[in-house]
Amino acid sequence: MMPHDDLMNRWQKRLQQQAIQRQQQGLWRQPKVLPGTGLNFCSNDYLGLSHHSQLVEAYQAGLREYGCGSGGSPLISGYQAPHQQLSEKLADWLGREAVLLTGSGYAANYAVTSVFNQLDPMYYFDKRNHASMYDAVGYEWGADQRLRRFRHNDLAHLAQLIEAHPHRSDRQPVIASEGVFSMDGDELPLAELLQLNASHGARLDPAIWIDDAHGIGVNGEQGAGICGQTTAQQVAVVSATFGKTFAMGGAFIAGDRSFIEAAWQHARHYIYSTAFSAAQAHALCTAIDVIKSADVLRQQLRTNIEYFKQGLLSLGWRHQADNQGLNHAIQPVVAGSAHAAIALGEQLARRGIACLAIRPPTVPSAQAGVRVTLRANHQRSDIHQLLDALGPYQTFIRSLPVSDGAS
Ligand SMILES: Cc1ncc(COP(=O)(O)O)c(C=O)c1O
Repeated sequence: MMPHDDLMNRWQKRLQQQAIQRQQQGLWRQPKVLPGTGLNFCSNDYLGLSHHSQLVEAYQAGLREYGCGSGGSPLISGYQAPHQQLSEKLADWLGREAVLLTGSGYAANYAVTSVFNQLDPMYYFDKRNHASMYDAVGYEWGADQRLRRFRHNDLAHLAQLIEAHPHRSDRQPVIASEGVFSMDGDELPLAELLQLNASHGARLDPAIWIDDAHGIGVNGEQGAGICGQTTAQQVAVVSATFGKTFAMGGAFIAGDRSFIEAAWQHARHYIYSTAFSAAQAHALCTAIDVIKSADVLRQQLRTNIEYFKQGLLSLGWRHQADNQGLNHAIQPVVAGSAHAAIALGEQLARRGIACLAIRPPTVPSAQAGVRVTLRANHQRSDIHQLLDALGPYQTFIRSLPVSDGAS
């Protein structure tokens, strides 16, 4: 709580003014403890592994054996036998030569750009990429001399931009995209991108970087994600977090040896940051084994997704054409404005459902809404409850004040 006006410093008053403005715009954020009871439709634990007995046991065994913390950054004491084992397991699973472990997916994306930045890069960048990718390429501080953004998943637009690439031979083109888009739930058409790269890119030899945070574990053969079957020639580097399907935290990048070795030299979030614990690395090794053999869970997840999608369609929230391309656990339910998104989130909360509003700047205003995240361990009755709480689209729209109606 802010102190009384007279007792505030200048900086406190300025922050308060900014806070009031954000609140008025419906853009105020704050962390909330979710109620212990009720339904959760906002967790990224896609396969429901956070309480999986094998993972919990492996974590406990790791704690007993290696203790709580890693004691330092990876280049000092934070690279122990379980970290090495985890790196090798990941590299093997994803068909890459080497892996770098980082404290978060956010840091992993910085590790990627710390390497490309050695090569005078020009980033070709999907407009809907995750904020951590935007930050990693330096968008915020205006590095637009080396950034060309293409319309979301519009590969014809990407081709146009690549055609216009400056003819300086030492400038490295990098195509950067998510594998599954974190707010939209749609997928990068990778096969088309590889084809485009082979034809339009031949002259320039662009490197492809994919952040598959939401795809790994749930998509591809044995959950290896969108890049599982590709080579370093096709997709130079993959980044992904352990915060979603792996149900833990930390992250990695996977690429060829020269790429990872360069990250050892240049990735400041890696070099100057404490590594996650060996206990966690040990548990993550088990998580890989569980995920690789989790076809049944993946099928359950797909069934839940399909069931929810059909329900949403029948309630008028979505058009058939939009519904078809959205096959991931992330299911956006668009309310049409920041205020409408908040109203929808609150409507669900009153029915005991945690599913938070997603608003600008995370998504454009017209896309604001709630982001439903399905899991393999949701029951059909849970999904019914959610659909029931959403109710028909027209009823929701009529419940809004006129100024907040969906566009
Ligand atoms: C696509 C994408 N990349 C990176 C991140 C960041 O990962 P982390 O939470 O491990 O920092 C997220 C979300 O958290 C994400 O959705």
